[in-house]
Order: sequence, then C-alpha cells, then structure tokens
Amino acid sequence: MSQTIKSQQQPPLELQAGRECPAVNSNDGHKSRVAVIGSGNWGTVAAKLIASNTLKLPSFHDEVRMWVFEETLPTGEKLTDVINKTNENVKYLPGIKLGKNIVADPDLENAVKDANMLVFVTPHQFMEGICKRLVGKIKEGAEAISLIKGMEVKTEGPCMISSLISNQLMINCCVLMGANIANDIAVEKLSEATIGYREKGEIAEKWAQLFSTPYFMVSAVEDVEGVELCGTLKNVVAIAAGLVDGLEMGNNTKAAIMRIGLREMKTFSKLLFPSVKDSTFFESCGVGDLITTCLGGRNRKVSEAFARNGGRRSFDDLEAEMLQGQKLQGVSTARDIYGVLRHRGWLELFPLFSTVHEISTCRLPPSAIVKYNLQKPVLT
Ligand SMILES: NC(=O)c1ccc[n+]([C@@H]2O[C@H](COP(=O)([O-])OP(=O)(O)OC[C@H]3O[C@@H](n4cnc5c(N)ncnc54)[C@H](O)[C@@H]3O)[C@@H](O)[C@H]2O)c1
Repeated sequence: MSQTIKSQQQPPLELQAGRECPAVNSNDGHKSRVAVIGSGNWGTVAAKLIASNTLKLPSFHDEVRMWVFEETLPTGEKLTDVINKTNENVKYLPGIKLGKNIVADPDLENAVKDANMLVFVTPHQFMEGICKRLVGKIKEGAEAISLIKGMEVKTEGPCMISSLISNQLMINCCVLMGANIANDIAVEKLSEATIGYREKGEIAEKWAQLFSTPYFMVSAVEDVEGVELCGTLKNVVAIAAGLVDGLEMGNNTKAAIMRIGLREMKTFSKLLFPSVKDSTFFESCGVGDLITTCLGGRNRKVSEAFARNGGRRSFDDLEAEMLQGQKLQGVSTARDIYGVLRHRGWLELFPLFSTVHEISTCRLPPSAIVKYNLQKPVLT
C-alpha cells in the first residue's frame, strides 16, 4: 500500500524557540498533533520528515514537538536551546537545517501532553523508563508508532518494543522500519520504509501519509511483529558482516553471512510469532534493511574495528570512541537473543546469532564467525 501525500500547502507557523503550543482554535479541533519522543540521529531525521508533511497536510497541526534528552554541549549551552535557536541538532545531525515548526522540548510530559500521534524513536534500552514516566500522562485515544530497533528480554520471554508501548500505555502501536540510514535520508536521498500495522484501517494510512515524501517511499503490511523483528535482528547480522570486513574476507563471505543471517532472522521470527509472514522479509524492512546495514551502518563499522583490533578492544570502548553518543544496538540485541535461545534450548539452531554473542563477549575470537558450523540447517 503506497501512499501519496496531499499537496495543499499551508503557511508555516513562525514558531519561536521553546514557546508553548499555540492555543487550539475552534477549526483546529480535529487536527492531529504529533510528538516525536527521541532526538538522536534517526529521531531528528524522522522529525524533519514529519514536520515537512505537517505543513502540507491540512489534517495535522503544523507544530511537531520533539522530546530531547537534555545534554550540555562542550560550549556550555543546552542542546535543546541550540536546536530551537539554530533549527539544527548540532550533536546528532550537524549541518542539516530542520523545519522551523519543530520545537525541541526537554520536558517529556510537556512534549506529549497535547499530542494524539506519538512517534517513539530512542535507543531501545531507554524505552522501559520512558514508558513508566508516561503512564497516565498521554492523551486519551492517542496512537503510537515505534521506529525503534531492539527488544526487551524479561524472564517471561522477549518483549517487542511496540508491545511494551502498547501494554504500558494502553495504546495501539504500529512500527516503521526499513533500509533507513538516517544521514542519507537527511539529505533527501531516495529510500523506502515499511509500516507494520495490526488491523487494516485509517491509522496505517495516516502514518504512511505522515512519513511519505517523494524521497521516502512508505508501504504498509499487516505484520507488526514481522516488521519489528526484521528491524531488530538485522543489527546482529550487521555485527557478523563487520567482523568479516575487519578480517578482510571479501564479498563472497559477506554474502554468505548475510544469507545465513537472513535465514536465522526468518526462523527466529516465525518460532516466536507464527503469524509472521514470509513476504515481510522481502519488504524494505527485511532484505532491504539487511543489505544497507551490512554495507554501511554503525553496527558494521564498529564491528569491523573490533575485528581489526583482534578483539582486544571492547565494543563498549569502540562505541564510545567512534559513535560520539550514538548507540550501538547489535551487541545488546545479540546478548538478548542469546538469552532467549539458551532459555528455549534453541542455541544449536542459530549458529550465527550465538557466535556473534560469543565473539562480542570475547569467548570466541573474531575469526570464529567463519569457522563455526554456520551450515547447520535451521528449521524453515
Ligand atoms: N540512526 C539511524 O540511521 C537509524 C535508522 C533506523 C532506525 N534507527 C533506530 O532508531 C532508534 C533511535 O536511534 P537514533 O539514531 O535516533 O539515536 P542515537 O543513537 O543517534 O542517539 C542516542 C540518543 O539517545 C539519547 N539518550 C542518551 N541517554 C539517554 C537516556 N538515559 N534516556 C533517554 N535517551 C537517552 C541521546 O540524547 C540521543 O538522542 C534506535 O532504535 C535505532 O536502532 C536508527
């Protein structure tokens, strides 16, 4: 289901730094208000995309609130103040001007209080705390979408981030994943994304409308878990691809790792959620995201450095040095998946996933990524 956006252009609001939401006038009663919870690299680009559309779409308020986890910059200024003053997220998306209708807000509750469309886009490890803070604080009837790649693992089993949001906040939650390296979308290079929704209806279309631009092509499938697991699991395969790059094994080996990784992604997803559809793996969220993440992407890059150092420097060290505050997802996801595999007695079925974890925790050397029995057949 590809969406086209309406073209009616509305005059932009001249929003001033940090000011309160404009008073809602009687004609605005039915308009949707959007808040973006998160302002890292992808969070900021997502806000930029959305804000370009809220200006054009009459069914949305122009203003997009973006919650910022407040930081003090080396200059002594607050990141929020700088974003509102310069229309630029100088820390996580330097050099890119954001729409003036984006208002950065360091107060989480204030950022969401008037919104009925909530876009969650923070590193997954912070989501449980964020949801706890938002219980009872969001507008009745609000809808959510998660752009977050990762999962929470609890003693009772894995919990997808969309389920965490739905269960804690008692709201419906769609997901949006895809071959989306944020810096490329920031400069408006063509890319695709997939929305996963639970039930056919207006909301999936509304989300597609909010995100679609001529350079960001959005389709939608009825498979929340499939889309979200693709986005989550490919980061583990990207760690394996980075190891192969660091070992200078070449493209045949990398293709093998990607193919085996995709097979494990599909098998794991279907074992956890039998409703997951095969066709989802052929969408942008599946094979598209896997390819881009294994060719570019921060997980691949840091993992390559790990292998080049012969595993002597930890992923934590390299993350801090190479990513300047951005977060690596693949290593923690590999650890979480390993916990699920061990708990369920599935370790032998997933040699690539388990080897990535054993390498990242230094129980195996980087070279083990091509020495383990990766050919062992897994269930399909
Ligand atoms: N960057 C990409 O290209 C990209 C693309 C698609 C999806 N994603 C996914 O989007 C999600 C967000 O990634 P990102 O790239 O926007 O973030 P990021 O890794 O660039 O930045 C980290 C963010 O976390 C915030 N933060 C730090 N400590 C925090 C805390 N204690 N509580 C709350 N927030 C805290 C920082 O302020 C910053 O905004 C991740 O799940 C990621 O996998 C990223």
